[in-house]
Amino acid sequence: MEKKWWHNAVVYQIYPRSFMDSNGDGIGDINGIISKLDYLQQLGINLIWLSPVYRSPMDDNGYDISDYEDIAAEFGTMAQMESLIAQAKQRDIHILMDLVVNHTSDEHPWFIEALKSKDNPYRDFYIWRKPAADGGPPNDFHSYFGGSGWAFDEASGEYYLHQFSVRQPDLNWENPRVHAEVHAMMNRWLAKGIGGFRMDVIDLIGKEVDAQKMANGKNLHALIRQMNRATFGKGDAVTVGEAWSATPADALLYSGVEREELSMVFQFDHIKQFWDEHAGKWRSKPFELASFKAVIEKWQTALAHQGWNSLFWSNHDLPRAVSKFGDEGEFRVASAKMLATALHCLKGTPYIYQGEEIGMTNVRYETIDEYRDIESLNLYQERLAEGVSHEEMMQGIHANGRDNARTPMQWDDSPNAGFTTGTPWITVNPNYREINVAAALAEPDSILWHYQKLVALRKQYPVLVYGDFQPVLREHPQVFAWLRALDSERLLVINNFTAEHLTLDIPHQMQNWHGECLISNYAPRDRLAVSIELQPYESFALLIGR
Ligand code: GLC
Ligand code: CA
Repeated sequence: MEKKWWHNAVVYQIYPRSFMDSNGDGIGDINGIISKLDYLQQLGINLIWLSPVYRSPMDDNGYDISDYEDIAAEFGTMAQMESLIAQAKQRDIHILMDLVVNHTSDEHPWFIEALKSKDNPYRDFYIWRKPAADGGPPNDFHSYFGGSGWAFDEASGEYYLHQFSVRQPDLNWENPRVHAEVHAMMNRWLAKGIGGFRMDVIDLIGKEVDAQKMANGKNLHALIRQMNRATFGKGDAVTVGEAWSATPADALLYSGVEREELSMVFQFDHIKQFWDEHAGKWRSKPFELASFKAVIEKWQTALAHQGWNSLFWSNHDLPRAVSKFGDEGEFRVASAKMLATALHCLKGTPYIYQGEEIGMTNVRYETIDEYRDIESLNLYQERLAEGVSHEEMMQGIHANGRDNARTPMQWDDSPNAGFTTGTPWITVNPNYREINVAAALAEPDSILWHYQKLVALRKQYPVLVYGDFQPVLREHPQVFAWLRALDSERLLVINNFTAEHLTLDIPHQMQNWHGECLISNYAPRDRLAVSIELQPYESFALLIGR
């Protein structure tokens, strides 16, 4: 496998609105991020995926962009953005910008032009269709944020497509002028010295609208290859595409080296399997280790020699990792460390979502009006109108709503968690007095120092980066274990995914193994006996053969 500079890197995702507020307006901003670069350097990460900071009316917190080459006033200025890029680079940290080009904001000048008339030169930047025979939308395509995916434009008597909010019209990727504009914009960002792009819902850009095939359309891979050639392919950028539709076979197309598309994609198999078949994320299924193991193994195996995995438990659209896959109560610390070890000891590039490194948890606002996320708010209204009860929807939002990840970063135990001196745009999680960065820095045994250690281990031990993944104890219902093997080195990783004390029988051929314990969340172990007693959520990685 061809080695890349970012293979042993760890990415940290920043959701700017919720990271650090520097001026007391209650909204996180670029200067706030700059003030925390030393913290990130200490953690050891080399890449920041920065969720959108571009100019935007903030209908979807910045995923609705009205100017790709300006910064939202509430986040700062372009000069501050350039300073962030430069100051990060001094610390060997590169910024991945969030490329949101499936759609723009309805306030983008292209869309404002497009609305002016059917023969405006920008009309064809978007996707227009005539009404159906009854005057209604062209088809029954449903928006991810509720309601029809078509919005009527009175002036022209046509509908435009929006897969997300009505204020996020879809760009028309069948128009070569759209390619040219987007490529030029990307090149101008690359020229500013960024490290690459995270590509928002990139699997939707090749859509076949009339066939209602939105994800993975026939032009998708050709469009990405063309983008690669015209922009980032010339340099050493890192690119990660968000692809909810991706199967392992698709991921090989996106990230196979000779394909010249992307470095890797985010796939969501391990997330979607805990959603209800019909109600989706709004009816959560309990975590179940067997299917989780099966999915992770499937992806590790499929991309073993070609392509590259991205590894993540959470992001700004998902619940908190420890709440979803671990235990946010008594075993919060142990389970958060276990999840961290599991993540960093798989093959691929780990992504840490802000706050995960201190074990931040989901939030439970009691009333719907404390929520801010457009998706939760719209779907709450829509599902209630369809007869779903308030209680059921609140349960869904508590389990899987996007605001779980968007409560302010918990820096210390001062009011509003040290995130702002003003009123935060969304209520701080009340557990900040206990769970915060200052406390974590002061406690040598904290989740934070555990993450820091893992990030460093990936730099030190090639087996963590390039070692083959081999499942161990596959049928075990409570333990997720695997071996990483590179040349003569073997790393055994054992994770108890339950709150129970377990007696684990060690497979015969491993019974006399011993070596160096690289990381653990209880007393370090340096040898395996015939059986071992595992503590709740115990996890460790043992390096054998040194
Ligand atoms: C992606 C983003 C999400 C956003 C959506 C529309 O899924 O991660 O936050 O709402 O795309 O841009
Ligand atoms: Ca601010």
